[in-house]
Amino acid sequence: MSCSVFSITNQKGGVGKTSSALNLGAALCIKGKSVLLIDNDPQGNLTAALGFTPAKQGRTLANLLLVAIDYPEDLELHLQRTVLHTDSGLDLIPANRRLADAAARLQVMQLSQYNAVGEVDRACERVMLSLLEPLRQRYDYIIIDCGLKHELLTVNALAASDYCIIPVQAHFLASEGIPDVLELIRSVQVKFNPALKIAGILLTMYQSRPQLCQSVKASVGEVYGESFHVFQRPIEYSIKVAECPAAGQSIFEYAPKNVAAESYNSLAEEVLALG
Ligand SMILES: Nc1ncnc2c1ncn2[C@@H]1O[C@H](COP(=O)(O)OP(=O)(O)O)[C@@H](O)[C@H]1O
Ligand SMILES: [Mg+2]
Repeated sequence: MSCSVFSITNQKGGVGKTSSALNLGAALCIKGKSVLLIDNDPQGNLTAALGFTPAKQGRTLANLLLVAIDYPEDLELHLQRTVLHTDSGLDLIPANRRLADAAARLQVMQLSQYNAVGEVDRACERVMLSLLEPLRQRYDYIIIDCGLKHELLTVNALAASDYCIIPVQAHFLASEGIPDVLELIRSVQVKFNPALKIAGILLTMYQSRPQLCQSVKASVGEVYGESFHVFQRPIEYSIKVAECPAAGQSIFEYAPKNVAAESYNSLAEEVLALG
């Protein structure tokens, strides 16, 4: 099975990263693909959006990262115990606030790396890569929802990914975050993962009427459209998208006829076309 790993990332908050990880995953799942979602944010929003209580999760991404560092030979056992299966068919590696502790551990590793030259395979930036190695054989798609703080967690996700998707809220100044995320991606490409590709910029919370949305769409296309793909169809603003996490469902379960279900479907088609 050939697996593609996607990171959903943008250092700006509230741009639709978590919603896009969930609904892209759900769309791919409906199309018959096996999908693993990874919650890589200590806030645990993706975990909650799938109907789990983050604080109650005893086994999370944090444990797996620590096992991958300290007891790599036990990883398989821990993976089996940590991956959650949902009714919709999506699998999830959950997260909660303990992920911040794992991030702190990575940071300690980073400091000591300055003294230990040569151990590239055990670098603090490649822990998630080693974690995903056995999982790549089991899924068609792995989608990692990144957070804001803890840059090392995002660097780990990007170092382990084939592609990244950059959601941008179609709103005044929201596209200002793009240069920061592009810089981070570029540095990961240079230092850790030359194969990392930008699948595209995804406009989210798009309203066709307000002039503002139109102009953000036009300016993102103008400024970045030549260098990067901008996904064909923006994700429309819809209160149903905001409501579905509380129901623990994707848009396809919560409001399958909603316009945003169509746009997430269109995104999934473009993702499938990447191969
Ligand atoms: N297309 C949309 N229409 C309306 N609300 C949305 C849409 N996408 C996301 N939201 C809401 O906006 C907020 C931020 O989205 P979220 O996906 O959590 O962003 P991030 O993960 O980047 O912080 C959430 O309350 C979410 O429910
Ligand atoms: Mg989020």
